[in-house]
Amino acid sequence: MKSESIQQIMELRKKIRYHEHRYYVLDDPEISDSKFDQLLNQLKMSEAANPEIITPESPTQRVGGSPLKGLNSIEHTVPMLSLDNAYSAEDLLSLEKRMKEQARDEFDGFVCELKIDGLSLALIFENGKLVRGVTRGDGFTGEDVTSNVKTIRSIPLDLNDSVRQNPIRVEIRGEVFLPLESFKALNKERELNGDSLFANPRNAAAGSLRTLDSKVVSKRKLDFFVYQILVDGEIPGDHHAGNLNWLNKMGFKVNSHWKLCRSMIEVSEYCQNWEHMRDQLSYEIDGVVVKANSIQLQKRLGETSKFPRWAIAYKFQSKKVKTVVRDIQVQVGRTGALTPVALLEPVELAGSIISRSTLHNEQEINRLGLKIGDTVLIEKGGDVIPKVVRVLKDQRPKLAQDFQMPQECPICKQSVHCSEGEVITRCINMACVAKTKHAIFHFSSRKALRIEGLGEAVVSQLVDKGLVRDPADLYFLQLTELSELERMGHKSAFNLLSQIEMSKTRGLSKVIFGLGIRHVGERTAKILANHFGSLRSFSEAPRENLEAIVEIGPIVAESISYFFSLSSNKQILSKLSQAGLILTEKKSKISDNKFDGQQFVFTGKLSLFTREKATNLIEKQGGRVSNSISTRTNFVVVGDQAGGKLEKARNLGIAVLSQSEFQKLFD
Ligand code: IVH
Repeated sequence: MKSESIQQIMELRKKIRYHEHRYYVLDDPEISDSKFDQLLNQLKMSEAANPEIITPESPTQRVGGSPLKGLNSIEHTVPMLSLDNAYSAEDLLSLEKRMKEQARDEFDGFVCELKIDGLSLALIFENGKLVRGVTRGDGFTGEDVTSNVKTIRSIPLDLNDSVRQNPIRVEIRGEVFLPLESFKALNKERELNGDSLFANPRNAAAGSLRTLDSKVVSKRKLDFFVYQILVDGEIPGDHHAGNLNWLNKMGFKVNSHWKLCRSMIEVSEYCQNWEHMRDQLSYEIDGVVVKANSIQLQKRLGETSKFPRWAIAYKFQSKKVKTVVRDIQVQVGRTGALTPVALLEPVELAGSIISRSTLHNEQEINRLGLKIGDTVLIEKGGDVIPKVVRVLKDQRPKLAQDFQMPQECPICKQSVHCSEGEVITRCINMACVAKTKHAIFHFSSRKALRIEGLGEAVVSQLVDKGLVRDPADLYFLQLTELSELERMGHKSAFNLLSQIEMSKTRGLSKVIFGLGIRHVGERTAKILANHFGSLRSFSEAPRENLEAIVEIGPIVAESISYFFSLSSNKQILSKLSQAGLILTEKKSKISDNKFDGQQFVFTGKLSLFTREKATNLIEKQGGRVSNSISTRTNFVVVGDQAGGKLEKARNLGIAVLSQSEFQKLFD
């Protein structure tokens, strides 16, 4: 290839990078979108003609090759710590006191930054080139998301010339987020496609960043704000403020609202201002991060095993909005539980439109003192589903109506039952259509038989048309029956049928879980499958044999015996076997059972590991995890801001472990 054309291609790449930076980082484009696309196409064509000169940093390489099979784990060279939280002015003052006590003459103000509500990400640049993008994970080990990170246009694939000359390892840390507009557009598109919606922009960003197909990710419009730089594992420079300016010059997107404050009064004003102004931003923030400006002081203060001592996150109160409860509807769940749900005047809260909120049970309605027609405050914090937190009784209209739990099931009209001392009212009619629909939906859900494409709408139609009366009927459906359903063409019907076929091989524990026996969750299903080895011997086991299994208590045993005593359930089993599902499993020793039968409870926010990881460890060694503390609990593992559970554990004399003590136990 002629050196003249290499030169031209280099020039073109430089030009594209320049315009990417103007558009995605500075938000100040110089050329139109179509002109930009033209330049990119020109580069694509030149590179196609000269493939030998394509480098991973070329702007054409942002969307990589074929989808990945999974994400690899990568250990962080410097742990990605979390931040301690402050909720009040007092908490901020104690940070100031600590800093000033420790500082010699290093104190040089605080840098306040917006706390972006996304997920943290580390970018590794070697010799100025982006080589890896890693999620925070549990702080010590994250996941390799490099191909997805490259699709984020505000992330440069190589650093500006001034930095590239130093052959060093530069790590850039920051927050990946999804702007509100993009979040809304994404959910709208998912709604039209019948896909499940993301609860908030953070979940959407996290889900997107971990997607295996970078082509899908490139359409999601993820963005990235940078807040930290490490050079060869150390924070460089004298001042954090200087580092932010440097990062900017290197071509990164630094959130422009940061401020150098000289006193805690200024910090507190900054926090208050942003708490009021957060809705004016085009992305979500959940607080302010306050950092020591002096890097010397940061180094002197150091860190605990979880948090740096030189920074704190001032958390905003979770967002609340006012709306009106138009009605209270009663839903029937898989176990027949009747759940009252408030139908709300639709309002926007934290990026999504809220029109319903569960009220859990009659007792909760009484506790709130809620009537139909009331104006209420609803809250949505983090992942939490929106909930009614308070009734504004002074705004109650004259015609507000009391709510009464129905005496009959709203679906099958049979009478309902509420056992003494229980708060939950249930429909006990075995043939209730609502229960059937839930049972089938549960059977086909991801953690059970995983039949993709069998959404709630399809299940509902199948049951209403009498094509399916129980989960086993799914395996006898015909292509013509499926093709006649609403919004189901021949191709989708064919796909669904092949998904149903594929689900036959998921294995015994998935089938046991999928049956939806009360009190038999995923873990119990695994234990039962492992213990009995076949659906037949499980279903025929006398109650005392069930109770003899260490992890199975009398309530679970009773529930299993009751389930199989019903002839309708026995029929399901024989139909499943007739359909050719795999209903056996090789018995194996689950683990070395160091914690056989021991029960663990977690409380507070865990920072050293995820709950999921810890649960896996415990279960591998024969223990189990419960949500609530009882006399059967053996260990309580405490994270940050542990509340009532810790107190209860102490009162009951249960062993309390810190996170690191827990880690040692499993070393
Ligand atoms: S600094 C060692 N600055 O908040 C401290 N974090 O709750 C590094 N976050 O894990 C964090 N905006 O994911 C910092 N301006 C900001 C931030 C920020 C959001 C996130 C980050 C961190 C979490 C802690």
